[in-house]
Amino acid sequence: MREAGRRNAEVRRILLDAIAPGVTGRELDELAKAEIAKRDATPTFMGYAPGGRPPYPGAICYSVNAQLVHGLPGDLALAEGDIVSIDLGVTYGGYVSDAAFTAAVGDVPPEVTELLRLTEASLLAGIEQARDGKYLGDISHAIGAVGEQAGYGIIREYGGHGVGREMHQPPHVANFGRPGVGYRLKAGMVLALEPMFALGGERTVEEEDRWTVSMSDGSLCAHFEETVAITQGAPEVLTSLAQLPSRAEAQA
Ligand code: MF3
Ligand code: CO
Repeated sequence: MREAGRRNAEVRRILLDAIAPGVTGRELDELAKAEIAKRDATPTFMGYAPGGRPPYPGAICYSVNAQLVHGLPGDLALAEGDIVSIDLGVTYGGYVSDAAFTAAVGDVPPEVTELLRLTEASLLAGIEQARDGKYLGDISHAIGAVGEQAGYGIIREYGGHGVGREMHQPPHVANFGRPGVGYRLKAGMVLALEPMFALGGERTVEEEDRWTVSMSDGSLCAHFEETVAITQGAPEVLTSLAQLPSRAEAQA
């Protein structure tokens, strides 16, 4: 799973660097497919069709502004001032890695920068709780507390999940909850943690394409995700961008 996670980080780094005004979802999706193939891996999301949904048509989810998750990568181009969530699944050696970030396209207002910063901070707070002997509720509570403190809409209809040979395995990981309750965490488990917060209310709506999930009130929203292994010691973030050589090192 480490190998799958590192490939996910490498491709996400490339996608993050490609984000600019005028770039379309389709272009980013093509880039993702090419970079995944170069690494002898496959795009996990392609063809995924849970519960009678149409097969997912891309390698990435591309969700702009009030689109929360599962946006389809099409001809919609990014514009200065947008925020975009890119979600990427990479399968390698039979194992899945699942991770996402939300990034600003050029300048955005301070409250939007803060939404991105705090949503990512809630993910880090959740990761900190992903330890042998702790409970699922410890993770959920740590994530939700950050959103609650900030007064954000905390999305309740979607959350994290176990990940392994399949992308979506039990348990479901809610982004709110009480500490000390629920599933007991054990070394060797791998979870995808994925907080989602909005500047407005928490309600979401599924678009006509049967995939894109948007905020009902049209408010801006953020989504960050990492694949995290529970060990005997510190949590191991398998998809972390921090494991990659710095750009200066990469160019040397
Ligand atoms: N990170 C997303 C999730 O866990 C990935 C699903 S994308 C899909 O729900 F398009 F394949 F559904
Ligand atoms: Co996920």
